[in-house]
Formats: sequence, structure tokens, C-alpha cells
Amino acid sequence: MQPANRILNLKPYFFANLTKRILALQEQGRDVIRLDIGSPDLPPADFIIETMTERARKPNTHGYTPYGGTPAYRQAIMQYYGQRFGVEVDWRSQVVGLIGSKEGLFTIGQVVLNPGDVSLVPDPAYITYTSSSEIAGAEVYKMPLLEQNNFLPDLDAIPAEILTRAKLLWLNYPNNPTGAIAPIEFFVKVVAFAQKHNLIIAHDAPYADICYDGYVAPSILQVPGAFDVAVEFNSLSKTYNMAGWRLGMAVGNPDLIHSITSYKEQVDTSHFEPILAGGVAALTGDQTWVQGRNQIYQDRRDAVIEGLHAIGLHAHVPQAALYAWARVPEGVDEFDFCARLLQDTGVSVTPGAVFGQYGKGFIRISFCTPLASLEAGMARIVHWMRENIVVAHG
Ligand SMILES: Cc1ncc(COP(=O)(O)O)c(C=O)c1O
Repeated sequence: MQPANRILNLKPYFFANLTKRILALQEQGRDVIRLDIGSPDLPPADFIIETMTERARKPNTHGYTPYGGTPAYRQAIMQYYGQRFGVEVDWRSQVVGLIGSKEGLFTIGQVVLNPGDVSLVPDPAYITYTSSSEIAGAEVYKMPLLEQNNFLPDLDAIPAEILTRAKLLWLNYPNNPTGAIAPIEFFVKVVAFAQKHNLIIAHDAPYADICYDGYVAPSILQVPGAFDVAVEFNSLSKTYNMAGWRLGMAVGNPDLIHSITSYKEQVDTSHFEPILAGGVAALTGDQTWVQGRNQIYQDRRDAVIEGLHAIGLHAHVPQAALYAWARVPEGVDEFDFCARLLQDTGVSVTPGAVFGQYGKGFIRISFCTPLASLEAGMARIVHWMRENIVVAHG
């Protein structure tokens, strides 16, 4: 079977291969601690689950639901944007429900990019920005996210020749994998930049509600004029511990929302109604439990950072998202580092270059593991680093 050209260059998904390697170790009886994936380990609040199960028992909730989510779900998104960000949105024209934000990230590439267009993608980044662009036939231009720029792209460094052909600009704050945050002033600058250069902004914001130390992440839609140029992707996966429910949203420019909706009408038929009802409960119900959950992540973050600093690995303290982004010692290859760490200690962390060439020299450690396992994992890393030759390189 010869697959279509548009998928020939797709690289194997790193985490699928890693999971196979981990299963093999577990079959040998090894105790593996996974600090590599960003899938929330905690459940949603009880009232969300109760809403879903009650709705599932009703006889009239089992049919198809409207494309892009029920009006109740889209109205709940409107309410959330109003209360959380102070952003007024029209649920009919500026909101569409998604099967996780990932679906929307894929779709936006298909609905705005033509072959030959340039797609401006941060590096390192969540891989879907590149695959969505490449499948659409676009040329990907990587914008380095460098530590000296607080992991924000340097827009002024994009060559004029690239800018004239560029159509789509991707951003993601709070950021995966670096844990970086973007001040609202940066979003103001990006919106002006997009207006000037006729760009569409796709802002991926699934970590907007995973914040620490009192930090509150902004939405790009708070910037005046953002609705002219931007669409923001958001999700219940991380905010409400609902990753498996696959509830996401796109909010922003009505033309973009219309295009995404038209594409979706050809591809999917939305969710099971009780799942959407659970989403409504999550978005419109008591939000205070989210603070308590974030405190759990913050304690885990502190344990990771303490472990990293104990062995002299440089990592800034993230104020949001679910990851520590740490430098491996000079001269050490991070793929080799992670493979040896897993083999020797059973602790799995992610090599930074999985997220792009500017992730080289870094590892990503996730906070999605209970504190006791996470501390045990960090203790194994500290011990291994102290015993291991890599410390000598550092
Ligand atoms: C930056 C980023 N965007 C999007 C997603 C996908 O999230 P969802 O579950 O909403 O599809 C993830 C998941 O880890 C992510 O890290």
C-alpha cells in the first residue's frame, strides 16, 4: 500500500515508541516511574462526573449532537471567557466546540494554509503545529524559543522574505515544553505584528489555568483587535483534569470559527451529550477546586526543581503549565541521557529535541505523577547523576 504523499514525511510519534519500551521494561518486572507525559493523573471534581453520569441515564441523551457542540456547551464557553478573562464573546459566531484542542490545531492548518504558504512555528513546540502545517502543504519556518528571550519568539528576527509569504503564526503560552509564560504586552505586540503583516494567529492555550505562585495567565483575546486576527484554542483537558473526555474549544475571529466549523461538519459529529453536559458543569460550576488542584501541582513542581538544583541542573522555576525544562550537562546528548536514565533507574523523562532542534540540550520533566512517586523518581535521578559519569561532564 502506498500512502498519500502528504503523510509520507510524518515522523513516528515519540511517545508511542517510548510507551512500547516502557511496557517491555515493566514486563521484565521493572518499576517504571513516568515523568515524561503531560496527562493529568487526578480526576475531575465530583460534581462534573455526577452531571455526566446523571445525563447518561436519561433516555434522550444518546443521539447525535449538534456540530461543534450543543448551544449549552458553547454558551458555557462564552461564560467561562467572560468570567475568567473578562472577554466578551458571541457563542454563535465566535465559539466552536472541539474534540480536544488538538483537533482544532490540526484543523486550523487545513482551513487557512495553501501549498506554498509559510507557517511560523515556534521551536521547541507541541508537534501538531508542524504536522498540521505540513499536511496542508505549507512551508514551516521555525522561530527559535531561546532562554535569553524568556522563550518568546523574536518576531523582528523573521526575515522579510519569509514574512511576505507567511500566513499563520503559532503561539502557545503558558508553554509546553518550556513552562514559559507570556506577558500581555507580548500579546499586544503580536496582535499589532499580525495586523501589520497580514497574519493569522493561532494561540494554543490549554495550560491557561495551570498557574502557580498567584500568577494568572492572560488570553490573547484580551488584547483590543485580537478578534480581527486571532483564534485561541483552549481545553478542559488540563484545566479540569478531563483529558480523556476530549473537550476543547476554539474562540476568536468569526471567519476562522466558521471555516473550522465547516471543516468539522465534514469530519466529525461532536460528542456524547452527557460529556458535553459534564463540560458545561466544569466551565460554569464552582471554580475554586482548581486552585486546590494547582497547589498539588505546585508542590510537585517544587519537588522537581529541588531535585534538579540538588544535582546542579539548570532549570528556571515555571509559573505555569505542567513541566520543568532543564538543561542536561554540557556535551551530553539528551536522547542518550534519557535512554540511559530509563534503562538504569526506571525513570522516564522526555528528551527536549523531541519538540524541535532548539530543545537540544534539555529534558522535560512532567508534574503529572503523585508526589510520593515523583519524589522517588527525583531521588533516583539525583542518585544516578551523582554516581554517573555524566556528572563529571557537568
Ligand atoms: C501545548 C499543547 N497543546 C494541545 C494539547 C492537546 O490537548 P487536548 O487534550 O486539548 O487535545 C496538548 C496536550 O498535551 C499540549 O501540550
